[in-house]
Amino acid sequence: MPLDPTTLAPLPSTPAVSGVVETLAFFRDPDFARSRFERYGDVYETSLLGQRTVFIRGERAIADLFAQGDAVEGWWPDSVRELLGSLSLANRNGAEHRARRRVVGQLFAAAALKRYSPAIVALVDELSLELLGSTTAEALVPKLRRFAFSVIASTVLGLDAVDRDALFVDFETWCRGLFSLPFPLPGSPYALARQARQRLLRRLGALLQRAQASTAAGQTLAAGGLDLLAGGLDEAGLPLADDDVVEQLLLLLFAGYETTASSLSCLLLTLLRHPAELAWLQEELDSLVWPPPPGEVLGAYDPIRAPRLDAVVKEVMRLTPPVGGFFRRTREPIALAGVLVPANRVVQVSIVASHRHSNQLHGRGSEDLEVFRPQRHLAGDSSATLLPFGGGERVCLGKALAELEIRLLAVGMLKQLSLELQPDQDLALAIIPSPSPKDGLLVRSRPHGWRGDSAGADPGADA
Ligand code: HEM
Repeated sequence: MPLDPTTLAPLPSTPAVSGVVETLAFFRDPDFARSRFERYGDVYETSLLGQRTVFIRGERAIADLFAQGDAVEGWWPDSVRELLGSLSLANRNGAEHRARRRVVGQLFAAAALKRYSPAIVALVDELSLELLGSTTAEALVPKLRRFAFSVIASTVLGLDAVDRDALFVDFETWCRGLFSLPFPLPGSPYALARQARQRLLRRLGALLQRAQASTAAGQTLAAGGLDLLAGGLDEAGLPLADDDVVEQLLLLLFAGYETTASSLSCLLLTLLRHPAELAWLQEELDSLVWPPPPGEVLGAYDPIRAPRLDAVVKEVMRLTPPVGGFFRRTREPIALAGVLVPANRVVQVSIVASHRHSNQLHGRGSEDLEVFRPQRHLAGDSSATLLPFGGGERVCLGKALAELEIRLLAVGMLKQLSLELQPDQDLALAIIPSPSPKDGLLVRSRPHGWRGDSAGADPGADA
């Protein structure tokens, strides 16, 4: 239906022109979007390095955005777009995008997750044993990052340990270039990332060919799910070319690693800082078995069997979402929450601000959104819009895998270990690229039940 501009409010705008000061504030001020929402409303525009950018939060504006169909498209900053590659589904729209989601989505279907789950359980046990074997305090963050990388690299893509370690080095170089200025000056993070990208693509290409050869010989893959991609068709019904598939695999490493590692660190940090909620969760965990019975891994800790765990995970992701926001670009004028947004604007959906903003004016759940209170999700009085995995046509493709690995790690570690926060460490979160405790989350690990699980609580903790 054509828009009638006379019925719509004009787009509120900050006074920023060049956007240099705004951009600095964007990276430095964790309250950047929220303070401006308070001043300008749920839909406003500012300038970030010369790019007119519309920030939105809240149920109405976000639902309107998801209903726009072809009037909006996916958008990423130049550096991310270049380093992901033009074939990546993240940089495609319409039928091309949908076809690739169908192909890659096979890696996260229930049958695929069932196949990966014994290996994920083994990785959880390996990590728990390693922590128990240490007599000193250990930083959890690097170990959780390694765990998250192993799940995607070994369990899903099927890399062996040697390939995985070699790939990891290039992958970290590539990641450092993602949010840098996209000028390939020799030696700059962006130039190094471009070189690393070529090596990554070669390595992933060789991996894909090995998987294809095994499938052609009728053999089952020793690890990973790449055989599930065989026969995937593009939008014209033709098989996807290898270089196309390889760019999708690179996207999976990018999308699935940092995000999941962040959610795991924030989950453990938050529970260790909130002993009452940890004890409440432990009551439920006491009634669950670890390891989960073979064949029942997918359902063993689902929201029906483990509602408190589900509520805790939701609440941690509400307060510390691994992805603070995601982008779209308007191809034509659109209306968001009754505000006219012109064509050719980048729209950033602020997940962080939406998660702390009540859609109700009054009532329980609208006034304590700064507080960690997992029970709100069981009582159904969560008044904020929750979208840690995004939404609409581009909702996170790996959501089911992420949720599975978070639950398995939480149950496996908390049933086997008592973790004790160490004093004199900075527990504040570094926010970019994803929230993570600054000093790496130093803990002592002991067998579960040792001296009670409330040791190490931080009495000064709030949200
Ligand atoms: C806690 C962990 C994770 C969080 C919070 C998360 C969050 C998100 C968000 C917010 C988006 C953007 C959605 C949008 O634009 O509307 C996204 C997209 C995506 N995610 Fe995740 N993600 C997580 C884990 C994963 C994993 C494990 C994978 C795969 C291994 C994955 C693969 C993807 C892909 C491929 C996209 C792009 C989808 C598209 O453009 O169509 N994510 N994710």
